[in-house]
Amino acid sequence: MSESATPQSPSDESQSRAFLTLEGVEKSFASNHVLRGIDLAIERGEILTLLGGSGSGKSVILKHMIGLMRPDAGRIVVDGTDTTGIGERDWKDLRRRFGYVFQGAALFDSLSVFENIAYPLREHLALGEEELAERVAGCLGSVGRAGIEAMMPAELSGGMRKRVAVARAIALEPAVILYDEPTTGLDPANSRRIGQLIQSLRDRLGVTSVVVTHELDLCFEISDRVALLKDGRIVACGPAGEIRQSTVPEVRSFLAGGGSLEADSVWLTDADGESSELGVGDGA
Ligand SMILES: Nc1ncnc2c1ncn2[C@@H]1O[C@H](COP(=O)(O)OP(=O)(O)O)[C@@H](O)[C@H]1O
Ligand SMILES: [Mg+2]
Repeated sequence: MSESATPQSPSDESQSRAFLTLEGVEKSFASNHVLRGIDLAIERGEILTLLGGSGSGKSVILKHMIGLMRPDAGRIVVDGTDTTGIGERDWKDLRRRFGYVFQGAALFDSLSVFENIAYPLREHLALGEEELAERVAGCLGSVGRAGIEAMMPAELSGGMRKRVAVARAIALEPAVILYDEPTTGLDPANSRRIGQLIQSLRDRLGVTSVVVTHELDLCFEISDRVALLKDGRIVACGPAGEIRQSTVPEVRSFLAGGGSLEADSVWLTDADGESSELGVGDGA
């Protein structure tokens, strides 16, 4: 390190690069103390993957990031705004900067693909029908599925549903996209395609991405940095290559376990090569 460099504490430096920070975030549900002091900074333009066992609190962390849950203690700073104590109206404004791909890629089943993607646009922007159609077409093009506006969710395979969920998440041109288990239920080839889509949104649009997954192959293929959640805390966080080689015992044991504590899935591949989850091996 150069001696003439201006002294700057690491926290100052990471603050300036961070789009979103969680500091000492705690959350309990009755006696279930899920988050026990989460410290995590998401840097602009990066793909950060959050790993952790089933029920460890990954989805709860994502919900805190967009204000769908409020912390019991600690603070969350979004793009320079300290959200401590702000109201739902201010959160609604902040939330426009986020895209959220929900676990299970939940689409509105009674609405066409067009109306699913148009939904956030209608809610937040006053666009004419022509402009709306252009925006929807652009979103579908971005996820490699142009021209399926008229289809209904029930007609789509699992891989297509995930793509439409991503198309809806990018409709408002968000600065950050949160992906909750974006490839669960997909076969390896379609998982890889979703991974490539996440990377291309970063590369083409500079989107900051937070990905929750238990799929280690996907994680190490696409991530700039990786964080591991265990017992309510981030026990390791760093560049993907470093985490993969980490000697931290919690990381070693998580990676040795394959990362997945979830039940095995059964695959169904349909005629267009898209696959979807047929069922989860839960003995049912
Ligand atoms: N709305 C809620 N009310 C009560 N408990 C919840 C709620 N959401 C999550 N939890 C609990 O918090 C823990 C973490 O859940 P979650 O974040 O969904 O886990 P995962 O890491 O699998 O995404 C679980 O014990 C879950 O039961
Ligand atoms: Mg979850």
